Amino acid sequence: MRILVTGGAGYIGSTAVDILMSQGFDVNILDDCSTGHADNVPAGTTFIQGSLLNTSDIGQALKGCDAVMHFAGKSLVGESVEKPELYWSVNVGGTRNLLDEMRRANIQKLIFSSSAATYGEPEVLPISEGAPTRPTNAYGATKLAIDAMITDEARGHGLCAASLRYFNVAGCLKSARGWLTERHNPETHLIPNVLRSTSANPVKIFGSDWPTKDGTCIRDYVHVVDLIDAHIKALNSLGKTGHEIFNLGSGGGYSVREVLAASSSAIGKEIAFVDSPRRAGDPAVLIADISKAERVLNWKPTRDIGAMVGDTLASFG
Ligand code: UFG
Repeated sequence: MRILVTGGAGYIGSTAVDILMSQGFDVNILDDCSTGHADNVPAGTTFIQGSLLNTSDIGQALKGCDAVMHFAGKSLVGESVEKPELYWSVNVGGTRNLLDEMRRANIQKLIFSSSAATYGEPEVLPISEGAPTRPTNAYGATKLAIDAMITDEARGHGLCAASLRYFNVAGCLKSARGWLTERHNPETHLIPNVLRSTSANPVKIFGSDWPTKDGTCIRDYVHVVDLIDAHIKALNSLGKTGHEIFNLGSGGGYSVREVLAASSSAIGKEIAFVDSPRRAGDPAVLIADISKAERVLNWKPTRDIGAMVGDTLASFG
């Protein structure tokens, strides 16, 4: 079976490529390398360095494929607030093109990288797939719009699809070509920032007055290898038609201070930090209800925060 992995040169997409190949899948990759890295692309794949905004690039990338894992897109919450047009154009416009080209090529299986950002500030914890969707930024709004587009494509044209709503993805996989680690610029994610913290440039803790046990935000971290395992299980579960949505997290939460403590024990010394003002748009607590993925996909995350921090630390060398 040949899979098109869009965004296959990025952090999560390249991990998917590696695991898919190790399980015997053939892989095509479409990535414009705007945030991905060409050196993440392994030998043995068909790599099209191209854009979702160019339908002929998509057509070429879909050649010979039976299914698509769609990771490509803009994914910085802060940037999405400053440049919403970029997010609507690349994420929604790009996915519209992808769906059209898939229909043209008669490819009917899709796994889409959606986000917990579709829910916005939760009313009830943990957050289930039936929770209200009120995104608080353009990033989440575009992921929600794409989920709606996919539902309609499934209804109207028989697409079989799963949208996977990621909570906080962390950790990394060591591949034959090195660690497939986060290489964002700028890096906004907590774990890499904590591990790079120095006394000259300490990590900022965004808010210590949240209504949580230690005053810092709580998030649900899931290891990228567990996340990709869920993608493959979702692909194998696709029915004849229809669109299913699954939350992917660990089902539990860690505060920012707890992540610092786990990092400190991995490094073997205290982590320098500075208490800072809250970051705009951050909800206090996000924890996934993952019971649907556990029940329907027979999926269970197996790697804890220690593994996520440990792998990221090892990847920094
Ligand atoms: N944080 C800090 N200091 C930092 C970085 C983060 O204190 O240097 C805090 C944040 O305020 C937040 C927590 O650590 O409370 C996690 O922040 P991240 O930036 O690592 O992740 P987010 O929860 O903001 O975002 C993640 C994904 C988004 C997705 C969102 C879903 O990265 O793509 O979850 O809600 F939209």
